[in-house]
Amino acid sequence: MGKAYADLAVVRGRHAAALGVLAWHHGPVTVLQDSPFVRACRGLPGPHTPVWFMRQAGRSLPEYRKIRQGVGMLESCRRPDLVTEITLQPVRRHNVDAAIFFSDIVVPVAAAGIDLDIVAGTGPVVAEPVRTEADLARLRPIVPADVDFVTEAVRLLVAELGATPLIGFAGAPFTLASYLIEGGPSRTYLKTKAMMYGAPELWNALLARLAEITLTFLRVQIDAGVSAVQLFDSWAGALSEADYRRFVMPHSAAVLNGLIDAGVPRIHFGVGTGVLLEAMGEAGADVVGVDWRTPLDEATRRIGPDRAVQGNLDPAILFAGWDVVERETRRVLDQGKAAPGHVFNLGHGVMPETDPDILTRLVALVHEVSGS
Ligand code: CP3
Repeated sequence: MGKAYADLAVVRGRHAAALGVLAWHHGPVTVLQDSPFVRACRGLPGPHTPVWFMRQAGRSLPEYRKIRQGVGMLESCRRPDLVTEITLQPVRRHNVDAAIFFSDIVVPVAAAGIDLDIVAGTGPVVAEPVRTEADLARLRPIVPADVDFVTEAVRLLVAELGATPLIGFAGAPFTLASYLIEGGPSRTYLKTKAMMYGAPELWNALLARLAEITLTFLRVQIDAGVSAVQLFDSWAGALSEADYRRFVMPHSAAVLNGLIDAGVPRIHFGVGTGVLLEAMGEAGADVVGVDWRTPLDEATRRIGPDRAVQGNLDPAILFAGWDVVERETRRVLDQGKAAPGHVFNLGHGVMPETDPDILTRLVALVHEVSGS
């Protein structure tokens, strides 16, 4: 397997533009190395700063709310027809430079045998939280067939998207563990941290299992044709740098380094991670996602000159009127120039109450201001 991936990476790099479509293990894989998005991830110049939004697919769009009526969140993630339509909705509307695969971070752990649901307005809720050795046994490794609906949806999407890259994603071991241990969303991560500090062997076994599941899940998406992957460690900002490096980073690094030979850019994102940015880059990322708290030029000083950045307009600014949006967007674009590559995004996901027309205008503004 390793050799095949390595060969592909070479072919992708050298002949991507000429070949366009390559035959790979399981079928045709569209190679989009020359898209503005992939070029920025690699620190290469492009025609404009690429832009997409975390949570661009979802509740800010009336067409999303309509198609989801009467269909549970997990069920919609498992139906390739719905996944395809929902993923395409924001691409059609906003002219973004990348699509993000519609799914959720808990989809692979559900496939691994954990009984859970995604409750509207709350988030993932786990029926029996994972807190002991015996609980850990319920979390088995996954094989690609466990998520065949993902393979099918990615293939459908890649065919539909043409020149627009598709971003695959997964939750990072720490953020996934927080849902499994707490049983649902948490403000304090009390039980999570109690296991991390108090039962480090169990903690490491749990995070290693989650890293294994996550790596398989991302490989499935890459095999099916995504052009980049994003590892969401959304809640890692709850940790100090020392604890992140000791208890979390090795497991995230196992995922990210396990994908080096796959030949697609790896984005690593978390919220409230100002003090972790350097470590999150070191964990193995081509692009470090930055929330709105740290200006991108400052972020680049911390991360170092070898990695691109993604971010970081505060999603709340979209509620402050167009003049403010325009001023702050210009600031973010300006500060992003300090990095070798900049992918414009919000500092976290689109809020459900956001006016979708503002997002459409914002994409046009980013393209206009950054275009040569
Ligand atoms: O457009 C996209 O970004 C793709 C879709 C996507 C979803 N979840 C769909 C979703 C992505 C990338 C995710 C990742 C995800 N899921 C993360 C990491 C990103 C982040 O926000 O930091 C996390 C922490 C989760 C867990 C989760 N799932 C939460 C916290 C929630 C929100 C709860 C709520 O309803 O407010 C969910 C549910 C969820 N995931 C929704 C969507 C569109 C809302 C469910 C619905 O529409 O009924």
